[in-house]
Amino acid sequence: MAKKILIGLLVIFILMQFIRPTRNESTAMSPNDIEKHYETPENVKLILSKACRDCHSNNTVYPWYAQFQPGAWFMNDHIVDGKRHFNLSEFASYQPKKADHKLDEFSEEIEEHGMPLESYLWLHSNAKLTDTEITEVTDWAKGIRKEIQAKNPEAFVKKDK
Ligand code: HEC
Repeated sequence: MAKKILIGLLVIFILMQFIRPTRNESTAMSPNDIEKHYETPENVKLILSKACRDCHSNNTVYPWYAQFQPGAWFMNDHIVDGKRHFNLSEFASYQPKKADHKLDEFSEEIEEHGMPLESYLWLHSNAKLTDTEITEVTDWAKGIRKEIQAKNPEAFVKKDK
């Protein structure tokens, strides 16, 4: 009996392996990538790569557990949801107001330790940002917000009644 159950589970596990989500990988960096439009120091690039890009860009570096189901399914859910909210690879396609707002949330999430997601940190301990890294990456985002606001004053006029 136990043997039959075990074989049954094994068959299910093997069949699961055939249902694979499309991989989030592209060969080149998107022309709309934030790093192509705003000066990004090396240390900030590193922070984004190790802590954010797996879920917020068009290029995921797949960990070992995502080579198997259900690992890849969980990862894929986060990627689809994460990209829908904020995509570093498509940043330049956002309207000024939206871009500014997303960067505001970006800093807020990092400062409040909301991002990277807690569950991601279990298996990616190097993505846990130090206080110095948090300052570096949020200062960078705040600088870009100033640049966007200065370049698009019409989008940021306060409507006084
Ligand atoms: C494991 C995947 C994952 C990683 C890694 C990750 N995020 Fe997220 N992020 C998500 C998901 C999923 C959402 C949408 C659901 C939510 O808000 O919790 C999200 C939402 C966000 C939002 C909110 C956007 C909005 O419109 O509300 C911001 C900003 C953000 N992430 C920034 C970051 C930054 C910055 C990092 C790196 C320090 C990061 N994320 C790392 C998965 C991830």
